[in-house]
Formats: sequence, structure tokens, C-alpha cells
Amino acid sequence: MATRPWTKHRQPKRRLWLLLSATAFLLTLASLQASTYLLRRANALGRQCATLPAESSAEDAASPRPSIVMVSLSDEGEGGSRRRSFRGVRAAVEGNKRAYAVRWGYGYTESGDLVDRSRPPNWSKILAVRTQLPFYDWVFWNDADTVVTNPDTSLENILHAAIGHRDFHSSPDLVVTQDFNGVNSGVFFVRRSKWSEYFLDTWWNQTSFIKFGSTKSGDNAAMKYLIDSLSEAESLIHVRKLQMQCLFNSYPWVPSWKSIHRLISSPLVTWKGVYSDGDFMVHLAGLDEKKKWIKEILEQL
Ligand SMILES: *[C@@H]1O[C@H](CO)[C@@H](O)[C@H](O)[C@H]1NC(C)=O
Ligand SMILES: *[C@@H]1O[C@H](CO)[C@@H](O)[C@H](O)[C@H]1NC(C)=O
Repeated sequence: MATRPWTKHRQPKRRLWLLLSATAFLLTLASLQASTYLLRRANALGRQCATLPAESSAEDAASPRPSIVMVSLSDEGEGGSRRRSFRGVRAAVEGNKRAYAVRWGYGYTESGDLVDRSRPPNWSKILAVRTQLPFYDWVFWNDADTVVTNPDTSLENILHAAIGHRDFHSSPDLVVTQDFNGVNSGVFFVRRSKWSEYFLDTWWNQTSFIKFGSTKSGDNAAMKYLIDSLSEAESLIHVRKLQMQCLFNSYPWVPSWKSIHRLISSPLVTWKGVYSDGDFMVHLAGLDEKKKWIKEILEQL
């Protein structure tokens, strides 16, 4: 019976612990929900991805429109875990992108037939872009796991916002966005020029970056390396690295250890790149269950 007072004493303590843990758990859950909710409304809360000029302004009518092609490539059969699978992704997004291209009079190509089997399929985006470059003023590359979420925005207006004027023939040659890892090769613009041809050919030649059997295939790292190795002067003339990722390459925010860590350690990068209602394009970078995501996004639009 000597233990009795001890057990009695312990009971409320345990209850207190349970209560505290439950409260902490609920608070965490609530703040995760709040973060998801707030980030999704970044634009309504005052974030500006760009000051976009009004569509079809007088200025627009005066200058001839550049010819633009949207290029994408999906390799559904090969590689990747089942959860990361791209199966069905092409069918799910093709209608969305085609309709957008038709509406604004852009070309559209899906270059699945160009895949070079000696490298992870993602490298073949370089071939796909390079093949189209001679035929258009601009090539707009978008990864297979992207969806146009605001079809009312034209690519000319996005370019205008990116380069700061409407002279699309004398402008930087490469327009890219940056995320937590620096430049992202998932969505970018390339202008037809000797410089761009040389850049793409050199990028393709960075064979030491090729990586098999990893979540990274090396093409993004190679692009980053090439841009970083330009002189400051060359970079200034030829490459536009955008401050606001959400201009055309927004990532959805999904609660996970990684995204929470990023939100806390780089809140500004998260804020600039997070997908919010009204953004032009969503990119499911690094997410599993892509088909499910795409279906959900298309339903919400
Ligand atoms: C390849 O590209 C897709 C988008 O098309 C991207 O989601 C994926 O992470 C990339 N894979 C590798 C291995 O880099
Ligand atoms: C890329 O490599 C090929 C084959 O080695 C070579 O002929 C070509 O000149 C290289 N291009 C550039 C831009 O480095």
C-alpha cells in the first residue's frame, strides 16, 4: 500500500501531459491549416508577381506580335517510382495547354518523340527547345507537370513584365525564375538568337552532370552551373533571373517537413514562389501523385 500515494500523485500529472500534447498537436494542425490557407491567398494579401500591363493596350497594337511556341515533353513509360509517375499526366494537361495556345495564337508542341534514351528523359528538353528555336521568335519551355492556371494572361505580357519593355527582339535571351535551389529549369523562355543556340548546345554538352537513378537528373544543375559561370556583363545582357518566381513558375504549398522547414528558413522565397489563386502557371515540382493534383487544379479553375 506504500505505493498508493505515489500513483495518486502521478495521475493528474499524466493527464496534464496528455492535455498539453493534445493542445500542441491541435495548435500545430491549426497553424499548418492557416499557413496553407494564407499562402494560397498570397495575391489577395497583396503579393505582386509583376505589374502586368493591361492586355491589348494601344502599345500592343502598335508593335507586331512575336511568334511564340510552347514546348513540352513527357516521357510516361520510363523511370521514376510509381508515386512520382508521369503516367496520364500528358493526357491530363494537354487540353489545358492546347486551348491556351489556340486562344492566344501560339504554337504548341509535345516532343515525346525526341527523347534521347542515353540520358534521363529530362535532359531531352534541351533537344526539344533547340529543335523549335529556328522557327519562332521565342520558345516557352514548360515541364510536363505544369498547368496554365490563368489563361487570361498572355505570354507577351509575361515577357513584358520580365524584361520591362515590349521590344521582344532586343531583349535578354533567357528568362528564368529562381526557387530555393537557385535557377529552375522547369519553366523558362528562350529567344531565337546565336547566343541562345550556343547556350543550348553547351548545356547539352554538360555530360558530367548526367545522373541516373536519383530524383535529380542533373539538367537543372548543369543549367545553373552554366549561368553561374557567365561573366557579370554577359549575364546582364543575356539572362534575366526574375525576382518573383510566381510570374510563371508557381509551386503549390503542401505541408511536409521539407516545406515547413523552407517556410521557416526562407519565408521570402516561399512567399515569392508559392502558388496562389490568379497565378499564371502552377508547377508540381517535387510532388507525388501528379495526376491527382492536376485533376484537382483543373476542377478548381
Ligand atoms: C523531370 O521533370 C519533371 C517535370 O517534367 C520533374 O517534375 C522531375 O522532378 C524531373 N526529374 C528529375 C529526375 O529531375
Ligand atoms: C558540343 O559537343 C559536340 C560534340 O562533341 C561538338 O561538336 C560541339 O561543338 C559542342 N558544342 C558546344 C557549343 O560546345
